[in-house]
Amino acid sequence: MANIIKRRIWNLPDSQLTDPGLFLDRSTRREFLKDLGLPIAGGIAAAWLSGCRPGDPETVLSLGKIRFGSEHYPAGRNSDFEYGRAETSRVEAAKYTNFYEFTGTKRVYEHIESFQPIPWTVRVDGLCKNPREFDLGDIYETFSLEERAYRHRCVETWAMCVPWTGFPLAELLRLVEPLPQAKFVRFETFHRPQQAPQQDFTGYPWPYTEGLTMPEAENPLAFLATGVYGEPLLKQHGAPIRLVVPWKYGFKSIKSITRIELTASQPATFWNTLNPHEYGFTANVDPDVPHPRWSQQTEWMLGTQERFQTVKYNGYGEFVASLYPAS
Ligand code: MTE
Repeated sequence: MANIIKRRIWNLPDSQLTDPGLFLDRSTRREFLKDLGLPIAGGIAAAWLSGCRPGDPETVLSLGKIRFGSEHYPAGRNSDFEYGRAETSRVEAAKYTNFYEFTGTKRVYEHIESFQPIPWTVRVDGLCKNPREFDLGDIYETFSLEERAYRHRCVETWAMCVPWTGFPLAELLRLVEPLPQAKFVRFETFHRPQQAPQQDFTGYPWPYTEGLTMPEAENPLAFLATGVYGEPLLKQHGAPIRLVVPWKYGFKSIKSITRIELTASQPATFWNTLNPHEYGFTANVDPDVPHPRWSQQTEWMLGTQERFQTVKYNGYGEFVASLYPAS
């Protein structure tokens, strides 16, 4: 995907995807120089003043921390799900994230201090009998939380193994009682250019949107996460509530959701609108379908950079293959 400011997504050099180690080094240097040359954003300035340094664990984990709801953590682990690999460290997962509302770089934690995820509401409406609006307190009261160890595979070829806390999307859908005409679920992120500066960039179809078919949304794997690593979600991971659909490329797992709408037709989605040739609506992980500019045969893990063969549906075929009988 892309650095929004410097490049269009279709111009991202392969070097940034095929040699993550080199990319990280160069990117870190370039960003460091850029930070010195620009007015320094509040979060990172605060970190420097308090003696923290960009990338150190304390800075990475503290700038995005929220406390609301912390008494609900940790939740019990659902033993139906296992990574089959080592868990990614929480710092490595938190310091290499995608959140284009804030920055086109991976160091989102430096740009999120002014984002205010509390208070928060999620409206669930469209083709359902019982549309509802939930604030975060309602969400914690209504749904019982569990922890799931999920693999995550980004379309850019990086991967991670993280424990999300949340509840099945199907449970929320059941509460609003979908009408028979509802065939898709559309998800929308906030639109707050004052808090998320990249949303002033008009070349992109803000707010970020995503979508699933109704059977995908009702699949038991589709998860709404309010937490990660036994605590409320960090801002950079999509506080206070995000989608996690681990059999699909990561861009489908939309962060900081404000609206969930049931629709009769396939909704327009952010990356698919920008470049349908490269980012399909379905976007299931599949090593045999290369991205037009790079192979999807292998993936590398955040932190260790260990490489693995990519597996169809990210290894979740037993849960989801029946959704796609023709493939
Ligand atoms: N959701 C929003 N609103 N904005 C984004 O830029 N990036 C997506 C997805 N959800 C994104 C988003 C992409 S490309 C990926 S790979 C995952 O979030 C990354 O999740 P993580 O940063 O918590 O690892």
